[in-house]
Amino acid sequence: MRLMAHPVRSITGRARPPGDKSISHRSLILGALATGRTEITGLLEGADVLNTAAAMRAYGATVEQSGPGAWTVTGRGALGFAEPTAPIDFGNSGTGVRLTMGAAARFPILSVFTGDTSLSGRPMARVMDPLDQMGTSFLSRKGGLLPVALRGQPDLHPSFHQQKVASAQVKSAILLAGLGAHGITGVIEPKRSRDHTERMLAAFGVPVETKETEAGFAAYLTGPAALTAAPVQIPADPSSAAFATVAAAILEGSEVRLEDVCLNPLRTGLYTTLREMGADISIENERLAAGETIGTLTIRGTALRGVSPPPGRASDMIDEFPILAVAAAFAQGESILSGAEELRVKESDRIAMMVKGLRACGVEVEERPDGMVIHGRGRAHVKGGALIETHGDHRIAMSFLILGLGAQEPVTVEDAEMIATSFPGFKAFMAAFGAQITEAS
Ligand code: S3P
Repeated sequence: MRLMAHPVRSITGRARPPGDKSISHRSLILGALATGRTEITGLLEGADVLNTAAAMRAYGATVEQSGPGAWTVTGRGALGFAEPTAPIDFGNSGTGVRLTMGAAARFPILSVFTGDTSLSGRPMARVMDPLDQMGTSFLSRKGGLLPVALRGQPDLHPSFHQQKVASAQVKSAILLAGLGAHGITGVIEPKRSRDHTERMLAAFGVPVETKETEAGFAAYLTGPAALTAAPVQIPADPSSAAFATVAAAILEGSEVRLEDVCLNPLRTGLYTTLREMGADISIENERLAAGETIGTLTIRGTALRGVSPPPGRASDMIDEFPILAVAAAFAQGESILSGAEELRVKESDRIAMMVKGLRACGVEVEERPDGMVIHGRGRAHVKGGALIETHGDHRIAMSFLILGLGAQEPVTVEDAEMIATSFPGFKAFMAAFGAQITEAS
């Protein structure tokens, strides 16, 4: 399916973006491992998270929806995961499959994991290798690709894993496996990655220790440890809020309010960077909800200038690079986006896809191994008028639709149905602010 975004003067309105994807996956997985009933509110009902819900059912947990965003998981507790009778298909979701590998690693069962074309091309060795060292065994396609078969092991060896790349998916998989090992299991990361797993494990009764070391940032827990069900209120996803935020920021005269957005400091790199570009973003009603800071964002459109965020900030906005590149295209001046090699192994090679799409829309951009240099010349110079290939990547599709709202000519994106993996209702959400996004042939 193709969608076309039509240029608009400005957008206005208020809304609550959908539930956070990272926290939604974790609530289902921890709920399935725990003893008792986990009541979840605000769950993201996107395809990725629904695949994780189906996976947890395949392991014998009861996962039921009681209303919009309201779900109950009755966990397996001391029984442990049951052996699935068929391969589990995670669709497009790296978070779903990688965290589930960690969760299933400590049970004496066989799991077979599959995914769509994009997920089947993404590296799984980063999770399989540490879990293998802990005592599980894996079979995979050449190059550590899905399909993967995992034979879990009840007596895992506790161990520490030094990571080269900051990855919350890898860290979470190791910590979840560590719940079944006798002793301390953890990771040391060069830069601290998002800590939703640590926060939620603590809420489920298992403290995770953290400390700065010379080798990096450590997170670890002592096993064996059992989880007890706890309620989870899921805040709005800052990575989804990012699209309306940038739309408002690039369209002068706009004013958009976004409610209950997760403001975990390991997720807000985009907002810091936009402010450095001169964006007018204010935060109100900041409070704590189920272990996460949330608040209301108000974004008003202003002229933006180019920015070169420190490479060390990349992991705090890794999913927001495509939409940050759009903001940079509308700014005046050069933006150097760096430190983001990981973008090459996301749902698509996001550096290549952004560079190609921006050029097609008349933006001057240079590709770098770890990012790109964008020469912004203001809104009047973003031509648009292109058909954008997305390689089935939801965030590339949404980013170019936002670009189309501010461009001189409409922008069409391919594979727009993939937007439903993370942001079902994106088109209607944006329409409520006055954005015109229509189906195209
Ligand atoms: C996620 C971690 C990040 C992020 C992904 C969600 C998570 O991936 O890009 O969208 O929920 O743990 P990496 O762990 O590969 O950095």
